[in-house]
Amino acid sequence: LRILLLNGPNLNMLGIREPATYGAATLAQIVADLQQQAAELNVTLTALQSNAEHQLIDAIQQSYQQQDFIIINPGAFTHTSIALRDALLSVAIPFIEVHLSNVHAREAFRQHSYLSDIAKGVICGLGARGYHYALDAAVSLLRPHNQ
Ligand code: DQA
Repeated sequence: LRILLLNGPNLNMLGIREPATYGAATLAQIVADLQQQAAELNVTLTALQSNAEHQLIDAIQQSYQQQDFIIINPGAFTHTSIALRDALLSVAIPFIEVHLSNVHAREAFRQHSYLSDIAKGVICGLGARGYHYALDAAVSLLRPHNQ
């Protein structure tokens, strides 16, 4: 199984960025832990972070028939990007939306997502563990007999 992990703008700043909201772990640490989990689950995990909307869209388009599942933390593009939504609809690859923080406990503008209604599921407020739960869930969805 092939799983793509996408992180959007400012998530390269994890560890430095508002640690009370987003935690102390860096994205490199989070991705390394996820790579270990992926190896244990015998899945291939490809990780990309970009601050640029078009790079995320390009990565989604290039995933067509190349990836089985997407785990995405779109950062602020969650709340703005019809283009990311359209890209995910275009390739029809199932995905889970992850947020480190509980977006529903924050500003009103974070409480709408352009992706949630087309996601398999949404995980928020559980910090970096959310990515691990998403990876577990992705594998369960793709290999239901192993549940
Ligand atoms: C975030 C929540 C978004 O509202 C914010 O713009 C981010 C990070 C999260 O992981 O909690 O950049 O996606």
